[in-house]
Amino acid sequence: MSVPNTIHPLLQTRYSPLVFQDKPILKDILKRLFEAAQWAPSSYNEQPWRFVVGVKGEGNGWQKIFDCLVEGNQTWANSAPVLVLTVAKKSFAYNKADNPHAWHDVGLAMSQLIFQATSEQIFVHQMAGFDAQKARESLLIPDECEPVAVAALGYEGNITDITDPKLVERANAPRQRQSLSEIVFEDHFGNGLF
Ligand SMILES: Cc1cc2nc3c(=O)[nH]c(=O)nc-3n(C[C@H](O)[C@H](O)[C@H](O)COP(=O)(O)O)c2cc1C
Repeated sequence: MSVPNTIHPLLQTRYSPLVFQDKPILKDILKRLFEAAQWAPSSYNEQPWRFVVGVKGEGNGWQKIFDCLVEGNQTWANSAPVLVLTVAKKSFAYNKADNPHAWHDVGLAMSQLIFQATSEQIFVHQMAGFDAQKARESLLIPDECEPVAVAALGYEGNITDITDPKLVERANAPRQRQSLSEIVFEDHFGNGLF
């Protein structure tokens, strides 16, 4: 299935790469990505997103995040110059009640970050495959917060640089999406609008 050319060009360009260039992301550019995330909407404007960033070659942060990834993700995320752990703050500041939309809002912030990143020719591959408890301990995540996902960021690499045959197959596989009739309804659930 191919991306329709009717949607925004940045959304057409975005995908989750399996190889990145060996090229760092400048601090100013990295900062802009988080400014994009910062300006996402959120329930009660709670802004429950938190990010722990690891830059390859700077301190231990990158390695600590990398060590939390499952092996299958380590095989390709190794080439990413930046790894980010996304974290949700679970309760509202104003009344300490549970914030059931915290994860939703972290996803929104990431979506904005990815949109900005794509405009800077930076690609993002998110991962659920990581050890959240290990991340909590090694990155000192407080109890009121929950690790959500890890994202690998970097400039698009060349598929011909991938050596693992399984990864080459994945990188060349056609992209799949459910049809609009399966996900958008009118009147009642299951009744496709388009
Ligand atoms: C929350 C989340 C978790 C994901 N976890 C993984 C993962 O652990 N490993 C992986 O290789 N890709 C992971 N992905 C990437 C998806 O597989 C990918 O987005 C999907 O196949 C669609 O491909 P595209 O992003 O290139 O359009 C994850 C994506 C999201 C949003």
